[in-house]
Amino acid sequence: MTVSAVINVDIEGPKINRHVYGHFAEHLGRCIYGGFYVGEDSDIPNEGGIRLDVVEALKALDIPNLRWPGGCFADEYHWRDGIGPKEDRPVMVNTHWGGVEENNHFGTHEFMALCELLGTEPYISGNVGSGTVQEMSEWVEYLTRDGDSPAVRQRKANGREEPWKVKYWGLGNETWGCGGNMSAEQYALEARRYATYCRDYGDNKLYRIAAGASDFSYGWTETLMKQLSHLGCQRVERPMYQAVSVHYYTIAGTWADKGAATVFTDDEYYTTMVKAARTDELLTGHANVMDLYDPQKEIGIVLDEWGTWWDVEPGTNPGFLYQQNTLRDALVASVHFDVFHKHADRLVMANIAQTVNVLQAMILTDPESKALVLTPTYHVFRMNKGHQDAASLRVDRVGEQPSREVGDATLETVSVSASRKDGRLLVSLSNLDAGAAQDVEIDLRGGSVEGVEALILTAGALQDHNTPEAPESVAPRAHDGVSVEGGKLRVHLPAHSFVTVAGAIA
Ligand code: AHR
Repeated sequence: MTVSAVINVDIEGPKINRHVYGHFAEHLGRCIYGGFYVGEDSDIPNEGGIRLDVVEALKALDIPNLRWPGGCFADEYHWRDGIGPKEDRPVMVNTHWGGVEENNHFGTHEFMALCELLGTEPYISGNVGSGTVQEMSEWVEYLTRDGDSPAVRQRKANGREEPWKVKYWGLGNETWGCGGNMSAEQYALEARRYATYCRDYGDNKLYRIAAGASDFSYGWTETLMKQLSHLGCQRVERPMYQAVSVHYYTIAGTWADKGAATVFTDDEYYTTMVKAARTDELLTGHANVMDLYDPQKEIGIVLDEWGTWWDVEPGTNPGFLYQQNTLRDALVASVHFDVFHKHADRLVMANIAQTVNVLQAMILTDPESKALVLTPTYHVFRMNKGHQDAASLRVDRVGEQPSREVGDATLETVSVSASRKDGRLLVSLSNLDAGAAQDVEIDLRGGSVEGVEALILTAGALQDHNTPEAPESVAPRAHDGVSVEGGKLRVHLPAHSFVTVAGAIA
């Protein structure tokens, strides 16, 4: 069967916010220590302790933002422990993640230096669960205020004269769970209070993100949205917070038995893809609730944790969440991006969990050989980066579509999204069928495309992955199964493959 679709290349939809290609780095396992940060005395090339090969690899992705310091860690992190001379910084226990000792050598200044090296925007997740309003307020002041005040003097004494620019600010994390076990009503009041004292200094305007729901808990989102419409005070020009977050992980099994990252059956693979595709239902559901209170779509959705979550690799610390990453993970990512592009009107940011060595990572570093491996998921981010800040284009599917029944669900096995930017068209296509190729014919209307370049990410098996010994088992290659004729773009998709097609709009 040939899959048919129509794209009107001259009808621009909402802009795909580049921040949906955002990232997340938590003090968890080997994400920070041994991942991003190896310390100044390491024999691995570094700048101020930050691992330079990791920085170089991520720069190729144009990552738009980096969320830090957690996750659950954020709500037990006290920022003042991570500033000043390293030898004076107190040690704390990372109770959420393995009970390991955290020496606080990677703190505020190191994180901001990392963002500068990456050319990315910081997204700081503040501590509501075990912190205070004053502590969070002073962190904002320390980072972003110019002039003279105790916090600013302290920053200058620690070597940073100029304030930094920080826009994205999280008011806690998973406050329904590890971030304080609060009810929605209780947290909504806290969010207002914390938001009040996270000030805008000078031209640094914070974009405050209220800690949102888990999965399909629409009631949580509704409670947060209701709190925004309380404002009797005419002097308030902006809502208390500009976005609400949501977390959604792709878990094929149960929390107790999530399954292995590299050993799985076709049935488990299809279940995984159904779970990934449910991101569409998730975003639609939260957006519908938000539409009731904010039809102008001023408040954004921030999906600040997403990705696959498997059992940890055998022999590794269960608290470190270290997992391999296969072609299956890459297809989970590509399906998410198609959904993100479709929800460009409300989704302002998304952050994959997590960037290095934790969950669905871009980069795995080997503790022994110190080698760095780029994962299949990394390549999806790279192949798709042209969608950042591009105008979304609607993809209308025509006629019968390939699908398969998976339990009670129907999985469409071809996923497509498209965008245009700077006169160029980018189409992303995923064939989720484990065993059969698909041919897609897209009727381009309102223009055609020329000078087409196509890349393909696939492998012999869905379980294939990259290791220091075989770093390119799953890596993009030029794809010649693409043609354009009479305004029709034809793309051949081998089984379990991800393809991008780019060209100039003519
Ligand atoms: O990403 C790992 C953890 O998952 C985060 O710390 C937490 O927010 C979520 O439960």
